[in-house]
Amino acid sequence: MTTTTAVRPVVVSAKGAARWQAGHPWIYRTDIYDEPGDAPGIVAVTERRGRHLGQALYSPKSEIRLRLLTREREAIDASWWAERIASSATRRADIPATAYRVVHAEGDGLPSLIVDRYGPYVVAQLLSAGLEQVRDDVLAGIDTALAPEGILLRNDSAVRRHEGLPLEVVAAKGSVPDTVPVEEHGVRYLAAPRAGQKTGAFLDQRENRVLVGQHTGAGRALDLFTYHGSFALHLARGAAEVLAVDSSADALARGRDNAALNGLTNIAWREANAFDLLRELERREETFDTVVLDPPAFAKSKQSVPRALAGYKEINLRAMRTLSPSGVLFTCSCSYHVSRTAFLEMLADAARDSGRRLQLLAVVGAGRDHPELINVPETGYLKGALLRAVD
Ligand SMILES: C[S@@+](CC[C@H](N)C(=O)[O-])C[C@H]1O[C@@H](n2cnc3c(N)ncnc32)[C@H](O)[C@@H]1O
Repeated sequence: MTTTTAVRPVVVSAKGAARWQAGHPWIYRTDIYDEPGDAPGIVAVTERRGRHLGQALYSPKSEIRLRLLTREREAIDASWWAERIASSATRRADIPATAYRVVHAEGDGLPSLIVDRYGPYVVAQLLSAGLEQVRDDVLAGIDTALAPEGILLRNDSAVRRHEGLPLEVVAAKGSVPDTVPVEEHGVRYLAAPRAGQKTGAFLDQRENRVLVGQHTGAGRALDLFTYHGSFALHLARGAAEVLAVDSSADALARGRDNAALNGLTNIAWREANAFDLLRELERREETFDTVVLDPPAFAKSKQSVPRALAGYKEINLRAMRTLSPSGVLFTCSCSYHVSRTAFLEMLADAARDSGRRLQLLAVVGAGRDHPELINVPETGYLKGALLRAVD
């Protein structure tokens, strides 16, 4: 698949044009007057009177029909992609880690494209039909801009279904190993680009793991929903002992390897349901100086928000009760449908019911390699709060 030579025209409504004007890169099916046919790819977008608005990725099967790439008439070829990706990489040049996100799709002006770096390798996701159509140019752009030893396409994200695209994991250059050792602010871990969750690690929490490491108490720490020990490894550098809990045996096995990589012997790994374990810890009146709660997204849709909030409240309430005096809780939600306001209200509610007084030390989002566009709410999903018990 390569870039089409002639860029086909698409005419959009005034409402569609206004969205771009307001800084949102998407135009929906209902705002298209004149569709360019069934083939996805790059199209030239105009308003009814013929004024050029820009060039966009076109997805004929998706409700999101157009994703703005540029307002200019320039050629969008492999060099264009290389230049954009290189400039995104330059903005991250000072990140003290060897695993981080290089391109965060809409947040970096490259809609539906994810590019993550894991040491010498790149794991990418092409999440729209328009982008898939220009796959060769995008891959050539990644290669030129980042010169990786290997590129893996983790195109198994469910969002590709809305685009009529297959779910697949394919090597696009060289071979990317099952695990890749990387470093994150002095902590080493094995990412799992082929079979791990997301593209191999939860890169969005990188800065929050450092923040929590700086607030870790000297006593016991609890990392619930630990995955491969991501927070636990940072906690273990300051705490006497850490209990790291997850429901995935595979992730925990890698967690043990990660502890060994760092010479850490003070982490206990437990395969359990975090809800059950919290109940048990509360019953046994166990306490911790530091607690981390990083659950999966409980709200997958708008309709499921009330139920999700009840789940968040349950784990937060119990976690608050397990905090020792002056204990610190880092808690988050990666549900896009749960707003920052709703999340903080839920926490206030849980704090009242727990009978604890909690200082709000920080409210955070994803790391700066996952930039959020303030006028594009869809680019923000992760919110976290750092709390300290003061009773
Ligand atoms: C958002 S991820 C955690 C990411 C991790 N904290 C990090 O920074 O890499 C959520 C994790 O929760 C685990 N999980 C899902 N449901 C669970 C449950 N009921 N009890 C324990 N772990 C669960 C998943 O296996 C996954 O590793």
